[in-house]
Amino acid sequence: MRKPFAQLSIGNYQLSINFRFFAQMIHATNIHKFYDQLEVLKGVDLHIEKGEIVSIVGASGAGKTTLLQILGTLDKPKTENGTKLVVNGQDILSMNDKLLSKFRNENLGFIFQFHQLLPEFTALENICIPAYIGGRSPSETQTEAKRLLEYLGLSHRTSHKPGELSGGEQQRVAVARALINKPAVIFADEPSGNLDTHSAENLHKLFFKLRDEFGQTFVIVTHNEELAEMADRKLTMVDGLIAK
Ligand SMILES: Nc1ncnc2c1ncn2[C@@H]1O[C@H](COP(=O)(O)OP(=O)(O)OP(=O)(O)O)[C@@H](O)[C@H]1O
Ligand SMILES: [Mg+2]
Repeated sequence: MRKPFAQLSIGNYQLSINFRFFAQMIHATNIHKFYDQLEVLKGVDLHIEKGEIVSIVGASGAGKTTLLQILGTLDKPKTENGTKLVVNGQDILSMNDKLLSKFRNENLGFIFQFHQLLPEFTALENICIPAYIGGRSPSETQTEAKRLLEYLGLSHRTSHKPGELSGGEQQRVAVARALINKPAVIFADEPSGNLDTHSAENLHKLFFKLRDEFGQTFVIVTHNEELAEMADRKLTMVDGLIAK
């Protein structure tokens, strides 16, 4: 149970003020998703607090990526009775596409197994793009991007294009790109799938460091048992639902 944020004493009365509600980062209720006749998500309920690191595991085809895409506002659920999705205090299902894009840019970061870097841009440029979209100044952005590249051990690859980088290096560039706007929530789908053991461990440590330093929230889909166990909470998806 989370400790009360503040306690007030008035005479003999003591009032505990619990900011649990405000600390909630993701509030998803009755999330359904169909692909044609196939029901892939069958009414998922999921609540994640600010600063939590949650891992999601489960068999191939259980619906993990589909759920992550919906929580990350990249896909829409089928709206049924009581379907609700609130992320960082915003009612996602009532937003139009333009508002959603802005919300994503300002609040969310994504790390996928297939990193989708833009091939014609350098590592540094790829990392900076989300910040430029958000209207941040180039000099401040580039300083921050170089700091991230250094942190991820890639200072010597700043001006290389994705085609000139190894798979693991590309993955780390994608991680830096996901972090450049200091998102409140980072969604990761098999983030260490392409990495050797050492790089994977470094990446996992980075997630925890960021959470401790900046209070960022992580939702990580993974088949990596070690990473799944490191999380504050490990959820298992079975056939379109989170197993109790
Ligand atoms: N665009 C799509 N069209 C039709 N069916 C889809 C689509 N995307 C996913 N599916 C189906 O939905 C189900 C859940 O897919 P999802 O990608 O969420 O699984 P997953 O748990 O992430 O699996 P994995 O561990 O293999 O990545 C699967 O049966 C899949 O074939
Ligand atoms: Mg998947």
